[in-house]
Amino acid sequence: MSGRNCLTIVLAAGEGTRMRSSLPKVLHPVGGQTLLSHVLAAAPGGAGTSLAVVVGPGHQAVADEARRVRPDVMTFVQDERLGTAHAVLAAKEAIIRGADDLLIAFGDTPLISADTFARMRAPLRAGASLAVLGFHAHDPAGYGRLIVTDGRLTAIREDADASPDERRMTLCNAGVMAFDGRTALRIIEKIGNTNSKGEYYLTDAVGIVGDMGLTAAVIETGEDEVRGINTKAQLAEAEQVMQARLRKAALDAGVTMVAPETVFLSADTSFGKDVTIEPYVIIGQGVTIADGAVIHAFSHLVQASIGRNASVGPYARLRPGTSVGEGARIGNFVETKAAVLEAGAKVNHLTYIGDAHVGANANIGAGTITCNYDGFNKHRTEIGEGAFVGSNSSLVAPLRIGAGAYIGSGSVVTKNVPDDALAVGRGQQTLREGWAKRFREMKLLARKQKTG
Ligand code: UD1
Ligand code: CA
Repeated sequence: MSGRNCLTIVLAAGEGTRMRSSLPKVLHPVGGQTLLSHVLAAAPGGAGTSLAVVVGPGHQAVADEARRVRPDVMTFVQDERLGTAHAVLAAKEAIIRGADDLLIAFGDTPLISADTFARMRAPLRAGASLAVLGFHAHDPAGYGRLIVTDGRLTAIREDADASPDERRMTLCNAGVMAFDGRTALRIIEKIGNTNSKGEYYLTDAVGIVGDMGLTAAVIETGEDEVRGINTKAQLAEAEQVMQARLRKAALDAGVTMVAPETVFLSADTSFGKDVTIEPYVIIGQGVTIADGAVIHAFSHLVQASIGRNASVGPYARLRPGTSVGEGARIGNFVETKAAVLEAGAKVNHLTYIGDAHVGANANIGAGTITCNYDGFNKHRTEIGEGAFVGSNSSLVAPLRIGAGAYIGSGSVVTKNVPDDALAVGRGQQTLREGWAKRFREMKLLARKQKTG
């Protein structure tokens, strides 16, 4: 932007005690991705930008997640949780390197957009030393209030320190701030900890800017974009906003959903053209759905790729590592895991296919189970192209069924089956002519003798 380079610091230290969870707060998911990953994805990237994340002590998982999303990220540890200004100074080394714009964002505000980060930088170009992101909160409790006097932002008052009059104000601090890099460090280092919590509040920067005769600006945005997440209830609210966005984006991209409000998507779900998703479908992380595919009602998909014109469900469960080929069909009450189904394969009813490869156009009958686990290890099942597996067969892995082979219904198959062979592994059927008739007559006679 206008040749100004930019450093973004994302604050992600802290346990998030009010989440009542052993998982660090910023690793909770919204739209199938961590809170932190959404913020990092929206932060300025590319030439002239750099990125830092401040994590809590022992929170290696948070640093790892940051690097997964943005491999170029610098990470810093805030040893003690002494407040948001203290957290920014944990990344002092990065600030000292010098950036024209310094953006501060919170790792617990996942709905923020790239556009808003860009808007925040504009007042700096116009001469402001600080820009603060504000919004009108439906329920402002817990947020810092922006104190605007005569059209000028003069202070931010934290909820705990606010007077009853101030508490009634609804213009709140979203948490994102943009500092002019030339004065940022001087301002932040002046912040003290004389407030009811004894913390170093980044929000005190506003008053200091005024004292220094510099100006602070407010950029406003809608509440949905800046919901901060401190509790599980707020996490659920953010999920609703995220799902509404994802559904709208899917509809805009041409996905057909008759009841989009019942469909749950992930931020990384990708759709081809003419995809249909029926009601009550849950799509977790890592799902791609190609052109013309239909996901029928009540299906659950995670880390799965669905080929062109394939059909999944109703009531299908596709677990990680599933790949459904072009035109293939997965029917009701079918579970798959680490399973590749080539084009035109059919697995239509009541089946488990795990650690398996199913060749093109193979037909897997109702009730087939790949017995992939012996209590210690997982084993693979290979089913050749065009093979036909009769209903209610148990395929005991490791196992290879050749191309074009037939498996008789009800078989327990433990030995490899060559191409084009028939394997039948079940009890022999016996037949007694007239037995049923004789049996009935005998029973009827016995009944008559008893009652007569
Ligand atoms: C903060 C703001 C408040 C704003 C609200 C918006 C301050 C003092 N208050 O309040 O004005 O309305 O966000 O959601 O800035 N963090 C650290 N180290 C710390 C403290 C916090 O890394 O020592 C991180 C947290 O992990 C979190 C973020 O900073 O991601 C915000 O901290 P949090 O405690 O959630 O602040 P709020 O009380 O929500
Ligand atoms: Ca918060």
